[in-house]
Amino acid sequence: MSRTFTRPKIALIGAGQIGGNLALLAGQKQLGDVVLFDIVEGMAKGKALDIAQMTPIQDFDIKVSGTSNWNDCAGADVVIVTAGLPRKPGMSRDDLLDTNVKIMKDCATNIKQHCPNAFVIVVANPLDAMVYTMAQVTGFPKNRVVGMAGVLDTGRLQYFIADHLGVSVEDVTAFVLGGHGDDMVPVRDLCSVGGIPVTQLMTKAEFDPIIDRTRKAGGEIVGLLKTGSAYYSPAACAIAMADSFIHDKKRVLPSAAYCQGEYGIKELFVGVPAVIGAGGVEKILEVKLNAEDAAALKLSAEHVGDLVAEAKKRL
Ligand code: APR
Repeated sequence: MSRTFTRPKIALIGAGQIGGNLALLAGQKQLGDVVLFDIVEGMAKGKALDIAQMTPIQDFDIKVSGTSNWNDCAGADVVIVTAGLPRKPGMSRDDLLDTNVKIMKDCATNIKQHCPNAFVIVVANPLDAMVYTMAQVTGFPKNRVVGMAGVLDTGRLQYFIADHLGVSVEDVTAFVLGGHGDDMVPVRDLCSVGGIPVTQLMTKAEFDPIIDRTRKAGGEIVGLLKTGSAYYSPAACAIAMADSFIHDKKRVLPSAAYCQGEYGIKELFVGVPAVIGAGGVEKILEVKLNAEDAAALKLSAEHVGDLVAEAKKRL
């Protein structure tokens, strides 16, 4: 009897800080064979070799290669795009628009040609406009293009809640909706600890500073690093999304998904609870929000709309 097995192929576009960590995590989780791509050839090849040489020590039996040739990404099942400039202190994510739209356009054109069947996860900022650019330029079905931001914002919120209450992060569930900017919407009513609504464990006065810190968490790290933005946690979050797709887990992950009327948002990629499985973004879950959160989400979506309008002018 002969059976043919093929391992998933994962193309990581951008071999910088996040890209390198994506390769490491994809390897350690044995998600599939990894191709690390960057326009700076030595960077992709060097990081790939470095990781390949740790595979015998860590016992992960996957191939990791580095390249500057798009042909090597051909037929990828999953593509994660981190190509683009990160923030420096004092910059907002929106300040990256000019440069990163050009980079995203280049990546999307190549992904369309070389990876026509891939599930594409966009990480570069300003996130919501970059996902739009990817979807627009590739013309891929909207369920196959998604942005990673909500998982990270939610992870940050979960961490801050656990830290404040002195409980395990494993028992904290949370949700952050909206765009990946300072007007994101951490939803208090959707936060719980071991199934107990957080509203029963913390007062609003205790929770408000946590919301504020969550919104500014990316900038807090930029301010400390000075030379770039967060990279360990964004990599882990994009890997969680890729894992859910590859293993058809159907996890409910806050993701920048294409809304067609959900939450009153039309024809925009905005952070919402998305079911990610073998079909890509298979479903968007709509939950009832209180009036304050609904208004905040509307405002955040409007900001995303403005940013997308700016991106459109540059396409
Ligand atoms: N094609 C491929 N790679 C590119 C391209 C391109 N057209 N243009 C730039 N790159 C590469 C750079 O050479 C660099 O190695 O993208 C990489 C980006 O890596 P870093 O500068 O280390 O940035 P990183 O911290 O990984 O963040 C990447 O994700 O979270 C966002 O705001 C962040 O937009 C930033 C992106």
